Amino acid sequence: MTALRHYLQFRDLTREEYAHLFERTRWIKDRFKRYERYWPLEDRTLVMIFEKQSTRTRLSFEAGMHQLGGAAIYLNTRDSQLGRGEPVEDAAQVISRMCDLVMIRTYEQEVLERFSRHSRVPVINGLTNEYHPCQILADIHTFIEHRGDIRGKTVAWIGDSNNVCNTWLQAAEVLDFNVHVSTPPGYEVEPERAGLYGTSHYEEFADPMDAARDADLVTTDVWTSMGFEAENEERKRDFEDWQVDAEMLRAAKKEALFMHCLPAHRGEEVAADVMEGPNSVVWDEAENRLHTQKALMEFLIHGRQAPG
Ligand code: CP
Ligand code: NVA
Repeated sequence: MTALRHYLQFRDLTREEYAHLFERTRWIKDRFKRYERYWPLEDRTLVMIFEKQSTRTRLSFEAGMHQLGGAAIYLNTRDSQLGRGEPVEDAAQVISRMCDLVMIRTYEQEVLERFSRHSRVPVINGLTNEYHPCQILADIHTFIEHRGDIRGKTVAWIGDSNNVCNTWLQAAEVLDFNVHVSTPPGYEVEPERAGLYGTSHYEEFADPMDAARDADLVTTDVWTSMGFEAENEERKRDFEDWQVDAEMLRAAKKEALFMHCLPAHRGEEVAADVMEGPNSVVWDEAENRLHTQKALMEFLIHGRQAPG
């Protein structure tokens, strides 16, 4: 029997396990593209709990589970007892007796951790205020597909030091690359909240052009994340000089990739011509949510699979 493992933040897996997942992703994606049936999760059930909205995360987990031969059940706070104050610990006991895997999108990371401590089955972070590990799993796979190994490379993060940024910073420690971060004053990285071991894998820049300079990958995200909507107007003012536009992308390496986890706001954090431009791989990134999460679910349920 496979030992119980959760995926609550990026550092929950080792560099070697990521190498395995990227290899499995390639194999699973390739088979899927050839319409070859692969059902390692036949008769297995995934429960997906959403306390925030989603398009990509829900779709990629639900379609992915179906394509691996299993079933997925969608629950949201509004229509379940979770929204009426049933303790997370009780919900975890009950839900995990009825399924093989749980994915949760919620607010505080602490809620996810409490759930996982009372769960009999693996729990996956589908986004919290602090982290979004499934997104960076897909992003790094996308980088590898286009440019090869990310080790030693430089990623420029322009904008808010949010859940996606924190996860890039953790990934840099695990996979040994560098992140150049530029946030407006007052929105800087909080290393403890980001769950970092140190400061050796990132550097902060007051000017976003300096962060972008010579980067291998330039990436950004919305100025206002889910749960912070009350700050929207203030953030629009504070972030106006942190838009990734063509000039900023020109400061990066010529072959630099542009990524955005989506949904994007053209004219705010990214200019339309960057989104649609030749360096942008945003649609590959979105598609790879499907393939990487299939490899992740296979790993959490069955452990390592032999190659091929
Ligand atoms: N990138 C991402 O997680 O998208 P959704 O919010 O649509 O799931
Ligand atoms: N930082 C964004 C990511 C959405 C996928 C949010 O948390 O809303």
